[in-house]
Amino acid sequence: QWNMPEFVPQAIQRIRDQVGKDEVILGLSGGVDSAVAAALIHRAIGDQLTCIFVDTGLLRLNEGDQVMETFAKHMGVKVDRVNASEDFYRELKGVADPEQKRKIIGRLFVEEFQREAKKLPKAKWLAQGTIYPDVIESAGAKTGKAVTIKSHHNVGGLPESLHLKLLEPLRELFKDEVRSLGLELGLPREMVFRHPFPGPGLGVRILGEVKPEHADLLRRADAIFIDELRKAKDADGTSWYDKVAQAFAVFLPVRSVGVMGDGRTYDYVVALRAVQTTDFMTAHWAELPYDLLGRASSRIINEVRGINRVTYDISSKPPATIEWE
Ligand code: XMP
Repeated sequence: QWNMPEFVPQAIQRIRDQVGKDEVILGLSGGVDSAVAAALIHRAIGDQLTCIFVDTGLLRLNEGDQVMETFAKHMGVKVDRVNASEDFYRELKGVADPEQKRKIIGRLFVEEFQREAKKLPKAKWLAQGTIYPDVIESAGAKTGKAVTIKSHHNVGGLPESLHLKLLEPLRELFKDEVRSLGLELGLPREMVFRHPFPGPGLGVRILGEVKPEHADLLRRADAIFIDELRKAKDADGTSWYDKVAQAFAVFLPVRSVGVMGDGRTYDYVVALRAVQTTDFMTAHWAELPYDLLGRASSRIINEVRGINRVTYDISSKPPATIEWE
């Protein structure tokens, strides 16, 4: 186990020794690991680092703006934001199969990233937020031990195709150490303790074909659920957001009948999902308080026109998976 106040200066020195005066590219995803890697590398080499942030149109509400706010505005990190949402929606049109959606999203992500990276011909390094469990997992996959139920979106081929050397300053750290490092480097607590978010983003939380109008409804419903989880606190001040390992809303492209005022509605359904787990291999559905679920449900139905029914997913993993696709 690393002690962060000791780790930081050593890691900074190591990064400086490794890259010298070279330029470095890093892909920001909105996730914790790439954020912490960016903050650490920026502390070490400042403007020699350029981050690329591909906005896939499949991110959570305001996520793109938050990333720009934290890194570009507050920390002065150079960030190229690529708005690629139109490309993603165009390629995903008519595609309903989860694995095919993952492949398309993964491929497009790499293409967008490469196109942007080519604009930085002087870069010699690709930095990644690889952490120790990722190192072990990919070793397992090579020996054929890992069983792939869902192909995970990764950017494994990137360094080779871009002819870049790999810089992975978090390789020795476990997740909790990455979080303390993030806090030590001054990243916002909310970013450091954010639940994991799958690489294909909302692409696998909108069942079936991914349409922009469905993504819009889902983003707003999801933000309300997360807001209620953050607001509901224990006597000791711990929020339900912090008590569960992962929570989100899922868009079901199914319409059901409802009443609103004097009228009949025929609108979409969202499912709320919250799980307790430490390893994400098995998970139990979270026994959220009924009043919290009730508040989330009435706010979603009242505030998100187009959704008139909210359900709560009480399936554990196995046999269900955490995500619906
Ligand atoms: P499942 O749904 O397989 O999810 O029980 C386990 C954990 O993995 C995340 N997940 C993904 N992460 N790319 C990712 O980077 C993916 O394609 C993907 N699918 C699932 C999921 O959010 C959960 O934390």
